[in-house]
Amino acid sequence: MTPTKGWLDNEVALITGGGSGLGLALVERFVEEGARVAVLDRSAQKVAALRERFGAHTLVAVQGDVTAYADNERAVQAAVDTFGKLDVFIGNAAIWDHASSLVDLSPEQLESGFQELFSINVKGYLLGAKAASRALIASEGSMIFTLSNSAFYPGGGGPLYTASKHAAVGIIRQLAYELAPKVRVNGVGPCGMASDLRGPVSLGQQDLRIMDSRTPEAIAGILPLQFFPQPADFTGPYVMLASRANNRVLSGVMINADAGLGIRGIRHAAGGLHL
Ligand SMILES: NC(=O)c1ccc[n+]([C@@H]2O[C@H](COP(=O)([O-])OP(=O)(O)OC[C@H]3O[C@@H](n4cnc5c(N)ncnc54)[C@H](O)[C@@H]3O)[C@@H](O)[C@H]2O)c1
Repeated sequence: MTPTKGWLDNEVALITGGGSGLGLALVERFVEEGARVAVLDRSAQKVAALRERFGAHTLVAVQGDVTAYADNERAVQAAVDTFGKLDVFIGNAAIWDHASSLVDLSPEQLESGFQELFSINVKGYLLGAKAASRALIASEGSMIFTLSNSAFYPGGGGPLYTASKHAAVGIIRQLAYELAPKVRVNGVGPCGMASDLRGPVSLGQQDLRIMDSRTPEAIAGILPLQFFPQPADFTGPYVMLASRANNRVLSGVMINADAGLGIRGIRHAAGGLHL
């Protein structure tokens, strides 16, 4: 097939957590850029909505959990069976900890919260990468992982979330090293946005959404660029990293897509004063 529409014509991408928020914005943008997309999401409702909205020639949605290797493998297989190959794996599904602090978490919550959050945010990225690796080596494709400002600075979550996103930095660096020269591995670190981002069941935060504990004004207020970004605002760097024409040279690179946050950091009260 010859290129007809966009930067990702004829490319096939698998996006985890593509059912809402940033993942859904990536589905929309990648389709707009000419890609065909597979999604792995644990929400049956979101998977059904995706199937209803996008035609079978454009999207295949798999309901499953990123913490189970078999589900990641099913999603990769669905992409390859439906569209013939896989060019891009986007590890994106994650949960937040609503900035639960070390002091406020009980030891039991710290343990169970760690198990649940790291299982999704870190193990999920590794299992997805593992499942996609063969197909990506074959296509000489790329992996992109969603990070966060919490991959680089404190104050955007509690220790569980911040540590999980720092761990994802290690995954990117190690996999960029291991999978060269066939596969480019990069990351994008967004800042706060309105999405369906929730917390761990083990912390009782499964129904708590990010905007239940944040306001658009509070998010805009800490950003040097002083606006409240929408999920779609973050999709450009993913397109650039995934595009074969625009990115032959970046691997092991993490793009801070955080409206300048690193320039002056997040202003927070000192947590040690709680006691
Ligand atoms: N919302 C923010 O402010 C913000 C800021 C920085 C980074 N991020 C990152 O953006 C990414 C996307 O999050 P979002 O904000 O769009 O939230 P979201 O909840 O809207 O999207 C995440 C999706 O992942 C799915 N999911 C969750 N756990 C899963 C699992 N175990 N298996 C399969 N699917 C699962 C959810 O059903 C949901 O559709 C995450 O990596 C998050 O850490 C978000």
